Amino acid sequence: MASQNGAHQNMADQNVVAGDRPAPIPWEQALAPNILADPFSLTEAIIRDYPPLFFAPSQDPKLGKGMWVATRFEPVREIFLNTEHYSSALVYPYFQAMGEDLRGIPIQLDPPEHAPFRKLLEPWFTPRAIVGLEPRIRANVDRLIAGFVGNGECDASYDFSRVYPVKVVMELIGFPEERFEDFLSWSHPMHFEQDHPEHMLWGAGQALAFIRGFIEGVRQAPPDETLASKIVRGEIDGRPLTDKEVIGILFFLWDGGMDTVAATSSLMLRRLAVDPDLQQLLRANPDRHAQAVEEFLRMHPTVNTVRIAKVDHLLEGQAIKAGDRMLCLAASANFDPDKYENPRQFQLDRQQNNHMTFIAGPHRCLGISLARFELRIALTEFLRRIPPFRLKPGAESVATPGLLGAPHVPLVWDI
Ligand code: HEM
Repeated sequence: MASQNGAHQNMADQNVVAGDRPAPIPWEQALAPNILADPFSLTEAIIRDYPPLFFAPSQDPKLGKGMWVATRFEPVREIFLNTEHYSSALVYPYFQAMGEDLRGIPIQLDPPEHAPFRKLLEPWFTPRAIVGLEPRIRANVDRLIAGFVGNGECDASYDFSRVYPVKVVMELIGFPEERFEDFLSWSHPMHFEQDHPEHMLWGAGQALAFIRGFIEGVRQAPPDETLASKIVRGEIDGRPLTDKEVIGILFFLWDGGMDTVAATSSLMLRRLAVDPDLQQLLRANPDRHAQAVEEFLRMHPTVNTVRIAKVDHLLEGQAIKAGDRMLCLAASANFDPDKYENPRQFQLDRQQNNHMTFIAGPHRCLGISLARFELRIALTEFLRRIPPFRLKPGAESVATPGLLGAPHVPLVWDI
């Protein structure tokens, strides 16, 4: 605990200037890895010191001159809803980075091209379809927990959160179970080693090569009930999907459904480990786990996504030019004091809990029901099977307020 307070203090010390108010911190610092109990708490400085929309110049050649950063609920929502003004074409980086002429589908498609693809996929993601997955999700979660419950310790991120979402998505799509270790080894560098582009590209390249071969196999085999079989034989507007479209869908579905759940799950379990009162409250109230998951999702938004302006226009009084990049900070929008009462407080019975973790508008996460369900099963089973747990004394658990989550959450409990 002492070191957590220290982290706050150091940051404040560095930025104090003459007068009674600290100078604004560089806003990116609020998203840096830290060891705080609430890794998102530093984004409070963004809300305090920055307007709802501001231009952040950049030295990074990939970002051109820089980008607009939207920091509050309303401008973030406006950017997601207004597809006349904003495009999703550049939101998914992997194919471009690999030099592949492919698009992540449906995430990179703008309306009206987007709607038929979304419609094609929707039947697999309805709450009813997701409930059908319950026995397999629960079995996966239970098997993992059984592997460490008797040890009195585990790494709740590496041994658990990193693993079960990969199994769920593989089963949903129909990828062969025996390639599980491969998928795990490809996904890890894609999401946890972005500082090493060659590792990241290796993981993405291996997954892409596998998916290409897999699609060929599915085409040759008789049709079955898997999502992969339906997509490979899918049609939109009365024509079969092209190979590029099939790859773009399968690659994105696999990828989009893993790291997001893994990161949220790692942050959720870490928070419970450092907040014994919250842990006790949730142990005593399993019927409120669905509400708790929603509040974890609001307080741990792992995706800050981007849009590109299509036309010159005004937003929040600022002149936006066609081609400008817009960063939508769910990490601060979800704590907007104009939207939420006591936004930094974990409130189980929050009445109004619309948040930007899954965004809004046509691209609102298609996997919402699955994500909520996976997180609820993980929360319920973890609390049911593992006695009261805490962070392992002496071990550090660094968390990133974003998609990297907490790569390690070493826990101990009494056995
Ligand atoms: C906690 C877990 C999750 C979070 C935080 C999350 C977050 C998001 C966000 C922010 C977007 C919009 C990105 C953008 O348009 O810029 C998105 C889209 C999407 N997500 Fe999720 N997601 C999660 C889990 C899942 C799961 C489990 C799946 C299913 C395999 C999934 C499938 C999708 C799909 C298909 C889209 C694209 C929707 C479209 O473009 O119409 N997500 N997700």
